[in-house]
Amino acid sequence: MTYNPKADIEKIVFSAADIDAMVKRLGREISRDYADSDKDLVCVSMLSGAAIFFADVVRHIETCPLVFDFMKVSSYGDGTESGGTINIERDIMVDVADKHLLLIEDIVDSGLTMSRILAHLRTRPAPPVDVKLCALLSKPARRQTDVHIDYLGAEVPDEFLIGYGMDYAKKYRNLPYIGVLKREIYTV
Ligand code: PRP
Repeated sequence: MTYNPKADIEKIVFSAADIDAMVKRLGREISRDYADSDKDLVCVSMLSGAAIFFADVVRHIETCPLVFDFMKVSSYGDGTESGGTINIERDIMVDVADKHLLLIEDIVDSGLTMSRILAHLRTRPAPPVDVKLCALLSKPARRQTDVHIDYLGAEVPDEFLIGYGMDYAKKYRNLPYIGVLKREIYTV
């Protein structure tokens, strides 16, 4: 059988060129806002979905010294959306005291993951100077709790998106575009 992921996609929502333009714009906005700071900016990639977006956007932040870190959480729910609890599998390891912290996410859906991470960060003994959120995408129709997104690529309708880091059953993350997965792929 020939590997052909495009056959599983109903439509492309953001081409590689669209994504590139969004990423560059976000990099400019972040660069502008931290330009006057002499403190390090700790950029935290939320694994695994944000890995590709993170790698791209940090290369467009040009006005302050960056430190990388990674966070991995898992949530328990019914398999199609975030559940009531998140389990932190990997926490931020670098010292964030007296530094700016920027969380980098691929998508904010219900908002539950990010609101719980933000609550968790507030309990740290040596907190950062401030915490901001950069998300490539947001699905406001799915929101269950308010989450302030400081830097947003685009709002999207409630469709099953894959590619550019986003998966279905751990696959499709490597696609250079973002598409809507055909319903027949994830319904049996
Ligand atoms: C996705 C995404 C966000 C979260 C958003 O992660 O990367 O972290 O869901 O959903 P929410 O706003 O409804 O909480 P997922 O749990 O699918 O893991 P992944 O990053 O490994 O793909």
